[in-house]
Amino acid sequence: MRRIGVVATAAAIGLALTACSGGGDGGGDGDEGGGGGTDVEVFTWWAAGSELTGLEALEAVFAEQHPDFTFVNGAVAGGAGSAAKDLLQTRLQAGDPPDTFQAHAGAELTDYIAAGQLEDVSDLYTEFGLTDAFPQDLIDLLTVDGNIYSVPSNIHRSNVVWANPTVLESAGIDPAAVPADIDAWIADLETVQATGVTALSVATTWTQVHLLETVLMADLGAEAYIGLWNGETDWTGAEVTGALEHFETLMSFTNTDRDGLDWPEATQMVIDGTAAYNVMGDWAVAAFEEQGVERGAGFVDFPVPGSDGQFGFLADSFTLPVGAPNPDGATAWLETVGSLEGQVAFNQAKGSIPARTDADPADFSEYQQSAIESYANDAIVPSLAHGAASPIAVLNAVSDATSKFTTGGSDLATYQQELAAAVG
Ligand code: GAL
Repeated sequence: MRRIGVVATAAAIGLALTACSGGGDGGGDGDEGGGGGTDVEVFTWWAAGSELTGLEALEAVFAEQHPDFTFVNGAVAGGAGSAAKDLLQTRLQAGDPPDTFQAHAGAELTDYIAAGQLEDVSDLYTEFGLTDAFPQDLIDLLTVDGNIYSVPSNIHRSNVVWANPTVLESAGIDPAAVPADIDAWIADLETVQATGVTALSVATTWTQVHLLETVLMADLGAEAYIGLWNGETDWTGAEVTGALEHFETLMSFTNTDRDGLDWPEATQMVIDGTAAYNVMGDWAVAAFEEQGVERGAGFVDFPVPGSDGQFGFLADSFTLPVGAPNPDGATAWLETVGSLEGQVAFNQAKGSIPARTDADPADFSEYQQSAIESYANDAIVPSLAHGAASPIAVLNAVSDATSKFTTGGSDLATYQQELAAAVG
């Protein structure tokens, strides 16, 4: 089975090496504040809630390591970059790039590279001692023709169910008993729905695509799921039809106001007990933790039924755009992003796991330790909704087809044809 990720054992991750070179002295190369001015515009979609808290944790390390530069928050609200990515494209095409922007490792990053919008930062890997800091398979996703185009900040898992144990218990479901597959889960969803609570919360289109990718993982298995992206699995085949039928059934258990919500509201429904389950990437854990909701008593998590043994992979990374107004400032930001101190602070707040392999798992929550273990041992499969599996244009076409389907504009056969055409 092809893995796009890394085989890094938890033990290897536990072998703490040295802290990053160069970071923490606040001095950089001595040029700070010169040339491009002191402002460093950091463009992300981490605009609110636990995502903003994560960004602020990184900002604090940046301020400590590079006090001569000023962090300027260029965040554009909208989960998964649903608004940010379009705006970014407009700015890049107008020759108005931010100093650095967030991009997903994998096909999404390759888009920007192919468009000539990113500088090669491989020299910085040497300068900051990053070459051995990240798993080789992750570096491969950031590399084109031997050049590396960004510095990863974190790794998230997409295929996670978050559930409210109190709601499950009131429906007579044992929160510790994880359904074996989507059919078994649907039986539980029916039981919950009969109690009058929203069984499964979801939000706007991108979260529906997120749900879809996890159902495809669960129903097809790792190898056939990966085949969807390398041409080996037929999008018009019966396996995909079965997964889409499951997706349709799952959507029938969701809240009707979904299209007006973003992920924090959908996850909040589980926190508040107005929904039993939510499928979301593990940035959701930061929302539970931020509100003091504890794993076990306040929430339970498990891989989307049927996808156990797979790690739905996505990684955020930061770039140096061609024409960045303050390349020195952006370079300083990239140094902080890649530093051990930056990765520990950021990921503790964000719910993700460090991309660096020398972070100590003991510094992270119980949930995150489980993600570190899954990343080390499971099949790594690329996320569709978060730029690992497909270029932005493909994701946009998948999103349009999904929105049409879930708002009643197409039937399942048409939806499947449109997905097949979108991926090409
Ligand atoms: C993903 C991103 C995560 C998280 C999520 C929700 O695309 O990689 O870091 O922010 O969107 O907005």
